[in-house]
Amino acid sequence: MIGKLNHVAIAVPDLQAAAAIYRDTLGACVSEPLELPEHGVVTIFVELPNTKIELLHPMGEGSPIAKFLASNPIGGMHHICYEVADIEVAAAKMQESGARVLGDGSPKIGAHNKPVLFLHPKDFCGTLVELEQA
Ligand code: CO
Repeated sequence: MIGKLNHVAIAVPDLQAAAAIYRDTLGACVSEPLELPEHGVVTIFVELPNTKIELLHPMGEGSPIAKFLASNPIGGMHHICYEVADIEVAAAKMQESGARVLGDGSPKIGAHNKPVLFLHPKDFCGTLVELEQA
């Protein structure tokens, strides 16, 4: 069911410092910061030839990233995103297999304006998984 790796998201305590590491130390192409207040994050995209890395920093009160950074103060991998052809089919398959979908179990519009589901890390090898309709 899953297709391409769409992105790996890394939560960072200092967005500009993280961008500098990817741009200057690793020699990658990094975007300008993009504010997504409805998702409680500011992101910088690192474009790689075969996928992208998203540097995530909390924005506003109650950001889901703030809690993660509280327990991972130097930052860390937050989630991994796989593409699926049909998010409704994916949601049904999760329900059928008993895997937990975060929230109410139905797809939401994600940070890239595409429908997404987040899957519980306890059901996926300790990794928060995002499924995005490609
Ligand atoms: Co994501």
